[in-house]
Amino acid sequence: MAKTALITGITGQDGYYLSRLLLERGYSVIGLLPPQRSDSIAKLGALVNEIQVCTVELTDPVGLLKIVEQLQPQEIYNLAAPSFVPDSWNDPLGTLDLVTGTATRLLAAVRQVGIDTRFYQASTSEMFGQVRSSPQDEETPFRPMNPYAAAKLHAHWTMVHHRQHYGLFACSGILYNHESSRRPPNFVTRKVSLGAAAIKLGLRETLEMGNLEAKRDWGYAGDYVEMMWRMLQTPEPEDYVIGTGQLHSVKELVTAAFDCVGLDWNQYVVVNPKFLRTDEHFQLVANPTKANRNLGWKPQVSFEALIEKMVMKDLERLQSGKIAPDTVG
Ligand code: GDD
Repeated sequence: MAKTALITGITGQDGYYLSRLLLERGYSVIGLLPPQRSDSIAKLGALVNEIQVCTVELTDPVGLLKIVEQLQPQEIYNLAAPSFVPDSWNDPLGTLDLVTGTATRLLAAVRQVGIDTRFYQASTSEMFGQVRSSPQDEETPFRPMNPYAAAKLHAHWTMVHHRQHYGLFACSGILYNHESSRRPPNFVTRKVSLGAAAIKLGLRETLEMGNLEAKRDWGYAGDYVEMMWRMLQTPEPEDYVIGTGQLHSVKELVTAAFDCVGLDWNQYVVVNPKFLRTDEHFQLVANPTKANRNLGWKPQVSFEALIEKMVMKDLERLQSGKIAPDTVG
């Protein structure tokens, strides 16, 4: 019989790639969506026909309990989060409730129903925050620097407590930045791919950016969801750091994107202080040795190939009129 997987945050970038992977592997995939957002499932394109949607408020413990009881899923992937980090300063409590509250309510539901569900918690390298050593691994201390990271850390520890105290099969992937052409345009990779494509087509004149010296460990989202799945197939639940182990600056990102369209970025990119972050940290880079060893982690898409893929996709979208050139965040 097909395994059932529940996914929160199914309409996001990772939700798309994970659903696609699970469907390919014969799963019955169910997305949990708040009633007022159930239409957003359309974002998943052709996958929609194969996915079932359960409408429930993620803030509703009884509703979540009923769904877990009724569907008895073999796997739950908790991806839901307001994932654009700067926004969390505007709504720290809302961020905490969605991120930590959802994890806590789902874990409680699994415990109460008493089934052998395997639980994946989407943790983040942002939890490492103000790092004192690089690269980071599963033993690196956490020093979160913003409300989003603090909420994710709380959710992470709640998951660990359920594993240690109640014996649930629960684990976290501590994922570094992972990107694709499905990233919303306020995130830096997509902002740059869309900006470079729009400038190439003569649809815009400049691209306003924040800190060009900021560095990140960027990989391809499609590679990362494979690791989420593999974490739940291991004999024992354990947490894993997932990243490429390579740092690139925003300047390198901009250079790569403009190179793809044969332009010199210096002529088009301007720094606007509005996009600078005061709490920025520069050395968030993964040591994925444990994932290499236990999960066979080997990213398939390089930084350059990822950026090229994104720029080409945005050129195509702009040329076909599927998106407006000023959708850059
Ligand atoms: N968004 C944005 N816009 N970022 C800029 C800009 C700009 O104009 N200019 C420079 N940056 C820098 C940011 O300061 C940051 O250092 C880096 O680009 C990446 O920013 P984002 O793409 O917004 O992602 P993020 O690193 O804040 O967070 C993402 O990765 C985390 C994992 O490490 C998100 O996906 C989080 O949800 C995730 O947890």
